[in-house]
Amino acid sequence: MATLQAIKYKRGKLLVLDQLRLPHEHHYDEVSTAEEAFDCIRSMRVRGAPAIAIVAALAYAVELHNGGCTATTPEETIAQIESRLDYLKESRPTAVDLSNAISLLKQAARAAKREGLAHPEAKEAILNSYIETAEKILAKDLENNTSIGSYGTSWLQHQYMLSSSRTISVLTHCNTGSLATSGHGTALGIIRTLHARGLLKHAYCTETRPYNQGSRLTSFELIFEGIPATLITDSMAGALLSLHKEPMNIGAVIVGADRVVRNGDTANKIGTYALAVLARHHGVKFVVAAPTTSIDLETETGADIKIEERKPEELTQISGAVVNPDGSIDTSRTARVAIADQRISVWNPAFDVTPHALIDAIVTEKGTVVKGADGKFDLSSVLQSN
Ligand code: MRU
Repeated sequence: MATLQAIKYKRGKLLVLDQLRLPHEHHYDEVSTAEEAFDCIRSMRVRGAPAIAIVAALAYAVELHNGGCTATTPEETIAQIESRLDYLKESRPTAVDLSNAISLLKQAARAAKREGLAHPEAKEAILNSYIETAEKILAKDLENNTSIGSYGTSWLQHQYMLSSSRTISVLTHCNTGSLATSGHGTALGIIRTLHARGLLKHAYCTETRPYNQGSRLTSFELIFEGIPATLITDSMAGALLSLHKEPMNIGAVIVGADRVVRNGDTANKIGTYALAVLARHHGVKFVVAAPTTSIDLETETGADIKIEERKPEELTQISGAVVNPDGSIDTSRTARVAIADQRISVWNPAFDVTPHALIDAIVTEKGTVVKGADGKFDLSSVLQSN
């Protein structure tokens, strides 16, 4: 079966699917420099915590491969790499995957600095080390997501004694699938694995206002994968969770993460916190799927997470393909439409923080972490294990 790929890479060439044009148009942009990556990430042509980190790392790898480093000495080479990476880090502030990737890439560049190696070999060794590390970040992400899918499915299977005759319906928020990662996805990866193992009854996805990652991207991925699914607006989640009636009997809310801090507090797409409160009220499990690249042990609690605020137009305007008078969609014509009085003041935080008390499980590629008897998550255990 064809797979959906947000990122296509071979050494020296990076193509990124323009998610602003989805689901109507499939257009890949070539991204070959740090500036192009910055713009692609900031404008949200690529989004999702792992995908942002991968595109930043690989775009700069392409720039280096194509002779973009003007330095001559090893010291200058490292200084140039570090300054370009620091620039990329500012593209979006909340997801920690990008800064974790940047730390890894800086480390790889520094570790390749060999005493006694002459120019140009010394510089080559540093550039190669950077490029190989960026490529490993891409490959490792896919591996991580498959594991998260497996661990998350096993955890839910155990919690609900799932079988082919006892399946589960789930609700997810935002987009955490192939489009947000190198493939398979995190929260959507669990849903995909539940489906592949015959344990999923039905998936519900929220629209995810204001950027509509749910309606534009997750709906598209669920249809692409042939997973039985229904779209709801964010404001319908309470009504859905209150039903407890088949097939709309939601067993779990499964979401991704942009940053999970030391105590388990989790920043994710705006609206996640409200879903966690609803899930707790209705006795529904609330599961966070996050690769260890989304974990930030240096930040103690969610109160210290910087939340990105985005422009008012994301609330007051909307884009889409033109609907013909006969109801068919003209995918060749897109339009941007104003849906509010443009003079209204707008608050547009891109993320919110869900306190760890509302989270039942954090699924990583190294296993599922639940709270101990003291009500606390110990995430250092997964970061230390191999
Ligand atoms: O603003 P976005 O679309 O980048 O936000 C994405 C999310 O909040 C995802 O849930 C998160 O990045 C995890 S993606 C695997």
